[in-house]
Amino acid sequence: MKDKIIKILSEFSDGRDFSVTVPEQENFGHYSTNLAMVLAKREKKNPLELARELVQKISAAAPAGFFQKVEAAAPGFINFWFSPEALQNELAMVTKNIKKYGERSIGKSKTVIVEYSQPNIAKMMHVGHLRTTIIGAALANVFESLGYKVIRWNYLGDWGTQFGKLIAAYKMWGDKKKIEEKPIEELQKLYVRFHDEMKSRPGLELEGQEEFKKLEEGDKENRKLWQWFKKESLKEFERTYKELGVEFDEWKGESFFEKDMKPLVSRLVQDGVAVKSEGAIVIKLDKFNLPPALIEKADGASLYLTRDIANIEYRVKKYKPEKILYVVGNEQSLHFEQLFAITNILGLADGVELKHVKYGLVLGESGQKLATREGRTILLKEVLGKAIKLAREIVEEKNKELSAKEKDKIAEAVAVGALKYNDLREGRTTDIVFDWKRMLDFSGDSGPYLQYTYARLKSILRKSQALKPKSKNFTLLNSDVELALARKIFEFPDEVARSGETLQTSNLANYLYKLAVLANRLYETTPVLKEESASRRSALLGLINITAKIIEKGLNLLGITAIDRI
Ligand code: ARG
Repeated sequence: MKDKIIKILSEFSDGRDFSVTVPEQENFGHYSTNLAMVLAKREKKNPLELARELVQKISAAAPAGFFQKVEAAAPGFINFWFSPEALQNELAMVTKNIKKYGERSIGKSKTVIVEYSQPNIAKMMHVGHLRTTIIGAALANVFESLGYKVIRWNYLGDWGTQFGKLIAAYKMWGDKKKIEEKPIEELQKLYVRFHDEMKSRPGLELEGQEEFKKLEEGDKENRKLWQWFKKESLKEFERTYKELGVEFDEWKGESFFEKDMKPLVSRLVQDGVAVKSEGAIVIKLDKFNLPPALIEKADGASLYLTRDIANIEYRVKKYKPEKILYVVGNEQSLHFEQLFAITNILGLADGVELKHVKYGLVLGESGQKLATREGRTILLKEVLGKAIKLAREIVEEKNKELSAKEKDKIAEAVAVGALKYNDLREGRTTDIVFDWKRMLDFSGDSGPYLQYTYARLKSILRKSQALKPKSKNFTLLNSDVELALARKIFEFPDEVARSGETLQTSNLANYLYKLAVLANRLYETTPVLKEESASRRSALLGLINITAKIIEKGLNLLGITAIDRI
């Protein structure tokens, strides 16, 4: 519907940039535009007068019966109200195209690489990985639905001096059996012990460096150990991803770029981009107001940053992406500023949009960084476990008659939905709060509320025998809530696109919440199954069917499962 308004306005806009938005309050129209104000500024006219003139012209140009009302409003807005017929016709159109409704071709023949999750091997995933995983997966889905080819990339932290330390620790204290039982936990313990002992035995640091050097040079034993650590880590990660319902196309981690390090660094020195400084090699970034970037340590070891440079070169060459999105926490801002500055100097990704998609912290209910009582960071699987346990209690209470297996399935979907929605509803850069009660509140702005709404709609559809001849004739829908729901439905494609443009899933999440509120209002005010007129009942069922489909699509874009029963 917005596109239709834009089309009518384009006749009067002579290519000017103007916006068409949904006002907060309905008395400012179903839609509203600033076009008259934009034009008046340039033509030095009175905006309200120009708006009034345009109202006349627009009303004449619009298809008969499309608007119920077009009005000028101070200081120069033009507000539009659709006629019920226009809304009813649009519902028929949406029903016809429901399968692809909301999909766009904005991204046709373009590629976007979305990099997210990126855990470090031999370490447990913790709550800090939750946000990147959830946000990244949702953005990837959004871009896909906008027509982009999407590469979901899990850039594993699987290289670096820390693996030298780990190998050294394993050789000293490692117990193969124990590791086989609880791989990552044991490896992490070894690593922590190494650091503890380093305090009293500074020589250990050197040992770690040497083991890493051997690893880099291809030492058989060290390679084998590293591969084993990686394999075990991946097994564990896969379990978590499965529970979260998250997937990837590409798993190349830092180690993949190891072989590019030496040639890259010497090339940069040769070109005069990088210089020696106290034995190390750095790139000066004064021009960008940034501190110099270290790309090779004095001992010849390469760095995280160096691998990222090689990675950009590889990605640009292989995928020719339009964008590369790095979903990584706020705290790595400097790293990405330096990386993008270097890329700019080298011309590695000209014409490619590189973007650090940052996000804030996860806070506990008291507003502090989420941690255990002893101050340890909370593991991702602990969070998941707790969410599932709490969800299971609620499901148990709500649905006593279901089988245990069904209850488990629902609890898992509800728990994951709650976690994801709690994150995605918020502006990305703000910190999010883990308020379990609110997250799992079936009547609040929560994932479970959306899932519950969906299940409610599905239950009406199940119970209705009249569903089969689903109506494509909506002329009998005319109550306020019915038409408001219809209008909300039509905002869906725009909200998906907006989430992609702004890289803020909150647009889509908040939209779905408003849609669900209206759906519940319809549910509570309109006894659909008791409706006596068969044609009106069938129109209502048609409306409910579309609403359920949009909620389902929206939830799926956010990575949340829509379940038929709750
Ligand atoms: N593995 C890193 C970490 O856990 C995050 C990687 C971010 N991505 C990147 N291209 N640097 O801190």
